[in-house]
Amino acid sequence: MRHLKILLRVFLVAAVAAVPVAPRAFAKETIDAGPYVPSPQSVVSDMLKLAEVGPKDFVIDLGSGDGRIVLTAAKVFGARGMGVEIKEELVALSNEAARQQGVADRVKFVNADLFKTDISQATVLTMYLLPNTVNMLKDKLLRELRPGTRVISHDYPLEGWIPEKYVQMDLEDKVAISGVTTTLIYLYVVPAKLAPAWTATLPSALSREPVRFTFNQQITRVAGTARIGGRDAAIEEGRLRGERLSFRLFAAGRNYEFTGTVKGGTIEGTVEGPGLKAAAWSAVALR
Ligand SMILES: C[S@@+](CC[C@H](N)C(=O)[O-])C[C@H]1O[C@@H](n2cnc3c(N)ncnc32)[C@H](O)[C@@H]1O
Repeated sequence: MRHLKILLRVFLVAAVAAVPVAPRAFAKETIDAGPYVPSPQSVVSDMLKLAEVGPKDFVIDLGSGDGRIVLTAAKVFGARGMGVEIKEELVALSNEAARQQGVADRVKFVNADLFKTDISQATVLTMYLLPNTVNMLKDKLLRELRPGTRVISHDYPLEGWIPEKYVQMDLEDKVAISGVTTTLIYLYVVPAKLAPAWTATLPSALSREPVRFTFNQQITRVAGTARIGGRDAAIEEGRLRGERLSFRLFAAGRNYEFTGTVKGGTIEGTVEGPGLKAAAWSAVALR
């Protein structure tokens, strides 16, 4: 019995250790934004590296605290950016730090509710927020951010959105924040919006007639069919990374690998398969 209790305790500790809990201080306030809890500076660097931030980027940190993510993006990675923070005193502190660190011409911090802020300018969006806030933001991110924008979330994933990458590490600094050493950083890439119906021009080896494509997009995953020669061919392993679309078409007993770039209502790309090497294909969305 005693052994069982010890085993159970070990199991529970292991299970809890695997998932960072909400920052402790946050739990005290549920309606308010919650107190400010900074990302450790090493995590800030890792977040910006995972997003491959560079001088062409505009980084927006939602809930920017003392401004460290946007300040580091400007000072170390040469980016421009904006922090959005609901606590006025932290905004003043961040703008003063920007002046002192000589980056006030490239970054600004605004006192606003992140849910009511226009984020469309971001090429990289970062956040370290409560898990439910992160998920409440998902629709806004998909609606407002341009395809290809990188989204980085510290500790909490966006449910239903498969990350491009994530890294996990153990950090002693995190014990005081979340009670465990486990630290996770998730990278997402905003996908293009794929219209449901298209007419495609394929290499003549595949079809001499225009082909109707039907796509069903679930954030970054795509399924569907292509109507070829009076039959529906299955679109498999469809995937969007920003504007980049890839899928496999299984037609007449053969596999064809499609890639293409989605620009609003057009797709242009190439297809590989039996007898086809980088052959051009294109499609136009049906309204
Ligand atoms: C965990 S801290 C992270 C600070 C900083 N991003 C970092 O990683 O060091 C979260 C911050 O988000 C702010 N915040 C929470 N909800 C907000 C909202 N609705 N609008 C603006 N700021 C918010 C909090 O005031 C807090 O400073």
